[in-house]
Amino acid sequence: MSNRYDHMQYRRSGRSGLKLPAISLGLWHNFGGINSFENARSMSRTAFDLGVTHFDLANNYGPPAGSAEENFGRILDHDLRAFRDELVISTKAGYHMWNGPYGDHGSRKYLLSSLDQSLKRMKLDYVDIFYHHRPDNETPLEETMTALDSTVRSGKALYVAISNYPAEKTAEAARILRELGTPCLIHQPSYSIFNRWIEKDLLATLETEGVGCIVFSPLAQGMLSDKYLGGVPADSRAGGPSGFLNANSITEEKLAKIRALNEIAQQRGQSLAQMALSWCLRHQGMTSVLIGASKPAQIADSVGCLSNLEFSAEELAAIDEIAPA
Ligand SMILES: NC(=O)c1ccc[n+]([C@@H]2O[C@H](COP(=O)([O-])OP(=O)(O)OC[C@H]3O[C@@H](n4cnc5c(N)ncnc54)[C@H](OP(=O)(O)O)[C@@H]3O)[C@@H](O)[C@H]2O)c1
Repeated sequence: MSNRYDHMQYRRSGRSGLKLPAISLGLWHNFGGINSFENARSMSRTAFDLGVTHFDLANNYGPPAGSAEENFGRILDHDLRAFRDELVISTKAGYHMWNGPYGDHGSRKYLLSSLDQSLKRMKLDYVDIFYHHRPDNETPLEETMTALDSTVRSGKALYVAISNYPAEKTAEAARILRELGTPCLIHQPSYSIFNRWIEKDLLATLETEGVGCIVFSPLAQGMLSDKYLGGVPADSRAGGPSGFLNANSITEEKLAKIRALNEIAQQRGQSLAQMALSWCLRHQGMTSVLIGASKPAQIADSVGCLSNLEFSAEELAAIDEIAPA
């Protein structure tokens, strides 16, 4: 599609030269070996045609672990490899990936061998962004950050990043990376109307350090939509085998909040999913929201949030009342 860049917004990541789409697509769920490849392919094409240039992976996405990267390699072969220079592809290492002491956490040994494996699975020469997926209190931060720096020096990554790091450790990591000459591009924390921890001090730290912010699970894994208002659909994440969200997560208390939020969204002329994304994007320093999807139509719906990003003080206060910081 020739008009893919007409409507998407691109936002600079921190004080870097790289801009990311305001909406990015994550391949954590629904791109694994257990899922329909044709659906995964169709979601990727839909996203790219809507200007979603950033695809986020990790070594362990699947299931089975590694299969989302393998499938993404196949999707590149079928549809997207010709557009490699128009894509920002990220991957990560930090959670359990293989047995023994070298397939988990934050050692240089784990990070560098994991990135080599990821590149093979996706059949890529380099990724655009390589993340340490979670903090590891047993490995010296200097070792983990030096390993990230090495990935850029070896040409296997263009930028490096961190995920799930608390504010203080983020500042420390950013300082080390700056000294090494490979600035931290972006931080990937969880954030949504239901999960506002980054407002306490992380957002201010990222601003000070000049690091971008791309938030994951901005829809609280789908809870911030109208899909659970009439029960748990069989084709939803809570109705399926995900293990990360189940029917017990959809409590009466949650539903009451979802109902109230849905009313505000309707008054704004948005779906609840769209309002939840616009709400995350209201922060000055927010580079991108990292959505997941199970169907191509959800991606189009989510990207539709961009036509209403403004909130009145009354709307923000009403959301605070329902889901306080
Ligand atoms: N760094 C980390 O530690 C970490 C952790 C988790 C995730 N992530 C990243 O963040 C990405 C997104 O995470 P997530 O999948 O939890 O994000 P999310 O956007 O909060 O939830 C995605 C789910 O919400 C539902 N959905 C999406 N768009 C919808 C719409 N427009 N209307 C109604 N429902 C909609 C779909 O669920 P149904 O299946 O119910 O249709 C979809 O699978 C991951 O793919 C991954 O890249 C990173």
